[in-house]
Amino acid sequence: MNDKDNEDWILSFYRFSEITGALFFGRLARVLPPSEIQRDMTKHFADESMHAWYWTRALDELGKKPVHIGDAYQDQYLESVGIPTNIMEILAITNVFECRVIAQYAMHNRVPDLNPVITSTFDTIMTDEKWHIQWIGDALKTLEPKFGKEHIDATLDRYRKADKEIYGKIIVEHEERIEHILDVKKKNSSGETSD
Ligand SMILES: [Fe+2]
Ligand SMILES: [Fe+2]
Repeated sequence: MNDKDNEDWILSFYRFSEITGALFFGRLARVLPPSEIQRDMTKHFADESMHAWYWTRALDELGKKPVHIGDAYQDQYLESVGIPTNIMEILAITNVFECRVIAQYAMHNRVPDLNPVITSTFDTIMTDEKWHIQWIGDALKTLEPKFGKEHIDATLDRYRKADKEIYGKIIVEHEERIEHILDVKKKNSSGETSD
């Protein structure tokens, strides 16, 4: 697996994850009753669709084609923790997804000497991702009287634990790829050659 393959895979993985997110939120936006949550969920779905497009465009501009990605890790969450049964659980699991995405993008965006096509894609997407965390946090707050703060916090904790386990297990491959890129860039900038 060389650098080019690692980068092709990661950017394709981002594209695939954004499509999965868009489909997930789109289905929710379609069935939610009229409310602020319905409005924000619809914007959220539209944003994730655009993110899928930005990665598709970035791959295209870099002369790459998306490579095949297996199951979305989001699907594995649902398998592990079960399908969320109410709006609070949906927002809680979404909060955990979104934090994971932001952390991943921020880590990758710190890699030195990234192609400007990639950095500008991160910059554009991160603005939306910050709003995603914001609105979901606000919406969860509004649900406190109905579900109870303790119950909401316990639900978030449960999903965070699942996230750690699932991401740790299935995204080991992903992290290795990122670390490989980080490592190679580090060696190059210190004058060493990569293997
Ligand atoms: Fe996104
Ligand atoms: Fe997002």
